[in-house]
Amino acid sequence: MSTKSTKPFIQACNGENLSGPPPIWMMRQAGRYLPEYREVRAKISFEELCRTPEMAAEVTLQPIRRYDFDAAIIFSDILVVSDALGCPIHFPKGGPKAEKPVRTKADIEALTVPNAKEALGYVCDALRVTKAQLPESTALIGFAGAPLTVASYMVEGGASKTFTYLKSLIFHSPKEASQLLGKITSLTAAYLRAQVEAGADAVQVFDTWASVLPKADYRDVVLPHLKNLFAELSDLTVPRIYFAKGAPHLLPYIKEMGCTMSGVDWSITIDEARDMLGLGPTFPVQGNLDPVLLLGDEGTMRKRVRALIDGVSEKRGYIFNLGHGIIKETKPEIVTALVDEVRKSTR
Ligand code: CP3
Repeated sequence: MSTKSTKPFIQACNGENLSGPPPIWMMRQAGRYLPEYREVRAKISFEELCRTPEMAAEVTLQPIRRYDFDAAIIFSDILVVSDALGCPIHFPKGGPKAEKPVRTKADIEALTVPNAKEALGYVCDALRVTKAQLPESTALIGFAGAPLTVASYMVEGGASKTFTYLKSLIFHSPKEASQLLGKITSLTAAYLRAQVEAGADAVQVFDTWASVLPKADYRDVVLPHLKNLFAELSDLTVPRIYFAKGAPHLLPYIKEMGCTMSGVDWSITIDEARDMLGLGPTFPVQGNLDPVLLLGDEGTMRKRVRALIDGVSEKRGYIFNLGHGIIKETKPEIVTALVDEVRKSTR
């Protein structure tokens, strides 16, 4: 069992009975919707920002100062792992781009798994700098991309609508696909452990593109690596969250995956998600307001937030979040109203 925490986010992750409202944080809470973030970015590139611990810590703390969220997520990107494996990624306008996509057997064999603490020590440093400045009651979340989602950018070379190269690799060369996923998994396991050693109170694995594969291919090719990843972390006492976007059909696999908590997107309700997980009514979950509701009028947003929280039958183990990252056009003031509405809710 985990040792008792005084942080509401961690208490909720451990299924404790909270006397107050559900803890709240937002995916992509540090980013371009905040003027103070844009101000930093006017002076420094995204890549440089990720690699400069003091600056990364500063933008991690910006949404905490403004909204007093219950958790901070370290400012970085899932693609630092690709870079560390030997597939450099850049972030021009329009999204991430690989210098040279990984497509062939030789490309995959050329990737080498480095020492996580050396190759990604700058993220661990950012965690340490952040932790030292974080209020005692605020949790610090470390993260990484899931093997398939990181592989998608390495193989496609950037964002994709059809995932033709990734799926071809998985369908036609499953051995090579597994070799690639294995290398990503191996580094990611060591990397998440290093983040916990550097002060992360919880870790989240983002599987944004889990939904692009047929279920059987996910089960046969991808799931074994997720199991390995969480098995490698099973001795840790911190919450280990898995979040797949747009993939409620994959929720039943969480039972065998080994994570301790699940993110839920907006496609189904929190109660439905818990039913599909089959791990009981108090299994820790976070979600799931559609971020587009933050683009409209405040009254509608408040009603939907209230309905969402009222609809969660079992408040133990429930954490408020968006169903995916906040949209960059969101006005910072509506997030103030969101936090107010969540904190007003009673049990
Ligand atoms: O506040 C936080 O959530 C922490 C920081 C964070 C970023 N990326 C910063 C970022 C996190 C957790 C991520 C995860 C991430 N990165 C995912 C998984 C979650 C998701 O959103 O689906 C994925 C798929 C990526 C890959 C990635 N990085 C893309 C597709 C892009 C471009 C799209 C975009 O939003 O611009 C990035 C760049 C990126 N990562 C930005 C930020 C704040 C924008 C960079 C900028 O300042 O210009």
